[in-house]
This record gives sequence, C-alpha cells and structure tokens, in this order.
Amino acid sequence: MPKNEKKAIKLIFLGAPGAGKGTQAELTAKKYNIPTISTGAMLREAIAAGTELGKTAAGYVESGALVPDDIIVGIMRDRILQPDCENGFILDGFPRTIAQAVALGESGTEISVVIDIEVPDEKIIDRMSGRCVCADCGATYHLVYNPTGDGVHCDKCGGELILRRDDDPVVVARRLKTYHTETEPLVGYYEGRGTLSRVDGDGKVEDITAKIFEVIDGYIAAEN
Ligand code: AP5
Repeated sequence: MPKNEKKAIKLIFLGAPGAGKGTQAELTAKKYNIPTISTGAMLREAIAAGTELGKTAAGYVESGALVPDDIIVGIMRDRILQPDCENGFILDGFPRTIAQAVALGESGTEISVVIDIEVPDEKIIDRMSGRCVCADCGATYHLVYNPTGDGVHCDKCGGELILRRDDDPVVVARRLKTYHTETEPLVGYYEGRGTLSRVDGDGKVEDITAKIFEVIDGYIAAEN
C-alpha cells in the first residue's frame, strides 16, 4: 500500500436478531462514509420485487430459518466487488454461519474488525415487539425507543410504517434459536483470528454508537 493511502475499513457487525446491527450500521456508515451491506435488506427487496431470488428466499425468511449458504455467498461475492466498496464496507447480517465465514475468507477479503453487539435474549424480544420499518426506504424505528415524529410515517421519506413479517413473536423465537445454534459460533471463530471486539449493546443507542466508534478509531489509529 502506498504511504499516504488509507487502508479500507471492512467491518462485520455480529449479533442476535434485534441486537441493533442495522441501527448502528446506519450511523457507522454515515460517520466513516462507507456503505452498509445488509443481506436481510437485500432479501426483503428481492421478496418485495418478486425476483427468482425473492421467490426462493421468502419461505426461509418468513419462517425464521437461514437462506442456504450457496445462495447468500453468491450474492455477497458480487456485492462486495462493486466500486462503492473500494474504501470499505459494513457487513450487517453476513456471515451468519461458519461456512459463510470460510467462503468470505477464501474470497481474499481481509476483515478489519468484527464487532459483536451483545444483548440478552429478553431485551431482544422487547425490541422486536416494538419495531416498525418504512415500507418505502426500509428505515427502522421503534414505537417506544425510537419513534417517528407522527408515529405513522417515516421521518426520512414520509413513507408508511409497517411491521416486518418475521417480527411475529413465534418467528422471533425461531430466529433467536437459529442465531444461537448457527451464528453464535462465529464469535469464537473470529475471536480465534484476533479480529473480534465485543460491545455491550444493552443501553442507549448513542452510548453504543460511541463504543463502536471507539473500536473503529482504535483500528484506524493502529493501521495508519
Ligand atoms: P436480517 O434482516 O439480517 O435480520 P436480523 O439479523 O435478524 O436482524 P434484524 O434486522 O432483525 O435486527 P438488527 O440487529 O438489525 O436490529 P435493529 O437495528 O433493526 O435477516 C432477516 C432474515 O434474512 C433472516 O432471518 C434470514 O432468514 C435471512 N438472512 C439474512 N442474512 C442471511 C445470511 N447471511 N444467511 C442466511 N440467511 C440470511 O434494531 C431492532 C429494534 O430495536 C428496532 O426497532 C430499533 O429501533 C430498536 N433498537 C436498536 N437499538 C436499540 C437500543 N440500543 N435500545 C432500544 N431499542 C433499540
């Protein structure tokens, strides 16, 4: 790397469903001027558009299961090669299995930091039961913790607020179970590679953001 050239910041946000990955990814993307790549958002868009990917993914997403690794790895491989990822990116919701993490490593992508946002299960259920999202731009809110100005429309684009189909309590319970069996082992996987930072995700959004920025700034200071 030439002297004055800054190293790209390639981040993974790990954490249970509802831990706040999307909320924190949005704030982090703004601050460091890098895109957020959310596999969940990509799948929801494909489902809404009725594409082949959407038709295949719908059953898995709506039941709280994971979409098969080969499908996800294929779409991610293409996405991180796009020009907007040149200075780095935030992966929100990927990888979610050891097989996905191995595929990411084999693609030659060198991850800077993996941030594990830790929230106890009982808090997760509380957060998911009040989540609402904009039907048009996908922005996320919470009826109690992060309400919009008028409670029915998105503050960013004025779109209508809706509930996510997979936030049904039965599906949330399944998603949490899937997280503990399939995704949580990634904490140990990245810890073993020396890239994991744990952040307590139980608290005010802005306090958690400050802790995440501290981790990223520490990485940047060490690398540049
Ligand atoms: P995905 O969309 O990735 O869902 P998830 O990981 O379950 O995460 P969420 O989006 O539900 O939560 P979050 O952590 O982003 O929390 P948020 O910021 O919204 O995936 C959906 C589905 O797609 C999966 O179930 C699977 O089927 C499929 N899929 C996706 N990726 C896949 C992959 N790699 N492989 C296979 N399948 C895949 O916050 C939650 C709520 O809490 C919000 O209302 C928010 O306002 C509120 N909140 C946030 N922070 C705080 C705080 N500090 N205090 C109080 N409230 C807060």
